[in-house]
Amino acid sequence: KRIVILVSGNGSNARAIIDSCMTQAINGSVVKLISNVQSAHALEMAAQANIPSTCIDHKTFHDRDSFDIALSQEIDSAKPDIIVLAGFMRILSDAFVAKYLGRLLNIHPSLLPKYTGLRTHQRAIDNEDSEHGTSVHFVTPELDGGPVVLQAKVPVFENDTVDDLASRVLVQEHKIYPLVVNWLCNGRIALNNKKAFFDGQEL
Ligand code: GRF
Repeated sequence: KRIVILVSGNGSNARAIIDSCMTQAINGSVVKLISNVQSAHALEMAAQANIPSTCIDHKTFHDRDSFDIALSQEIDSAKPDIIVLAGFMRILSDAFVAKYLGRLLNIHPSLLPKYTGLRTHQRAIDNEDSEHGTSVHFVTPELDGGPVVLQAKVPVFENDTVDDLASRVLVQEHKIYPLVVNWLCNGRIALNNKKAFFDGQEL
């Protein structure tokens, strides 16, 4: 299967997915990486890995819809089967999400439905949660609200800083995201009526 990855920052999840394609742990290949931030480290990483990449800077567009249209054109030119959001920090329009429904995955650093939105690690610490984690979900128009496919939990320790917790979560993200992407490549997971299915069973 053909995979396009959308990023805004560091790209460690994108890297984990690219590596898993190289080792054939994912039954697919990353045909393009698109960043909305020119300075994103993910663009350098893609260049090093010989993955075609491009930047579509949202700041050069007047509104969300025109950005989404340009983004969508760039995606479509790569003819992907699957679109993977990996630290992509823009909210996508309903029309965009509808177009790729069932083919669009995101990873969110919390145990959804807890902590949608930003600053998830800080909020877990502030609330003195004993566990935290990450969720891979299908993207639907509800922000961070699409059905979860797989989660990984990590402990929260008493003196954890945001960085401590974020790095503990990232280790898990790099394991579960490639796994779920491979499931989608192999047709094992699907989105139907806003619900996620694994081998035909509702999750
Ligand atoms: C990850 O923690 C992911 O859950 C969130 O943004 C972060 C991206 O990290 N959506 P990276 O760019 O993949 O290193």
